[in-house]
Amino acid sequence: SETRYIMAFESSADETSVAIVKNGTEIVSLETATQIKSHQRFGGIVPEVASRHHIEQVTVLADAALEDAQLTYDDLTAIAVTQGPGLVGALLIGVTAAKTIAWAHNLPLVPVIHLAGHISAANFVQPIEYPALALMVSGGHTELVLMREEYDYLVIGDTRDDAAGESYDKVGRTMGLQYPSGKTIDEMAHEGEPTYDLPRALINDDRYDFSFSGLKSAVINLMHNADQRGETVDHINLAASFQEAVVDVLVTKTRRALENYPVKSFIVAGGVAANRGLRDGLTAMMAEFPETTFIPVPIKLAGDNAAMIGAAGDIAYRHGKRGGLDLNANPGLEF
Ligand code: KG4
Ligand code: ZN
Repeated sequence: SETRYIMAFESSADETSVAIVKNGTEIVSLETATQIKSHQRFGGIVPEVASRHHIEQVTVLADAALEDAQLTYDDLTAIAVTQGPGLVGALLIGVTAAKTIAWAHNLPLVPVIHLAGHISAANFVQPIEYPALALMVSGGHTELVLMREEYDYLVIGDTRDDAAGESYDKVGRTMGLQYPSGKTIDEMAHEGEPTYDLPRALINDDRYDFSFSGLKSAVINLMHNADQRGETVDHINLAASFQEAVVDVLVTKTRRALENYPVKSFIVAGGVAANRGLRDGLTAMMAEFPETTFIPVPIKLAGDNAAMIGAAGDIAYRHGKRGGLDLNANPGLEF
């Protein structure tokens, strides 16, 4: 069949990103502008600041993506865009840019769920075989997603409170680390020993839901109590203990899901999929499932980027998903 080139837009949080993806499996160009520096002094993303950066960057990046790919709008098959979930003002910039370009160049518009994007980045490593299971771990989400076939997403487990990445960022904030602190805590964890005993919520529960707020609170209370008593806390060992608890829960729940839903592919995706401890823990666990191919999304594509939206957009396009000029950003969009 003929070659498809999808131009994709991602602007749900603090990265403005535009990509061109060939046949859903090959990154032809990827242009990303991160705004992290503008938000760091506030300790988190400031929505209005994010929107303003997206406006400044989006058309510049679209031009760069075409130039880098040595393509023109005439070569494109469709325009894909993150419709949600995310910050409404931030999403709106990507959605408006994508709608305008689709209308101006008479191209189909394909709305994409951000989380489907994270998972679809696995297709850049090797084609996902179905049925498949994904552990989606990011700053906003912690989900186990069962895909009985392509473009069929069933959330079998979800967090009841904080997302995994959110708990990393909150623990990091209490330790005085810069936002986002997942990567720093991961590095600290590899220097230390898990000497602190921390809770692993719902680990013996036979369903697939997660809860990380108790763990986060336990770490924060431990630091505050030590502070009041004038005792010192070994941050390196505390990071190692915290990470061990997070990984223990994520690996245990994933193992249980794989035991009950035999699948051909297992994917770990989302910003927290870059975590070394998690990747190592899952790799070791996957030895118990020789029939299942483990596809960790590459660290460089684990965080937010438009290439993953192009991969998911290609799937959605082939399944006939289209958006009109009335397409709106949906900050609470779910599978
Ligand atoms: O997927 P992502 O880029 O944005 C969302 O859609 O949320 O994920 C960002 C999250 C942040 O919470 C960040 O601290 C976390 O991913 N993160 C990590 C690591 N790298 C990024 N968490 C743990 N270990 C890491 N190496
Ligand atoms: Zn994300």
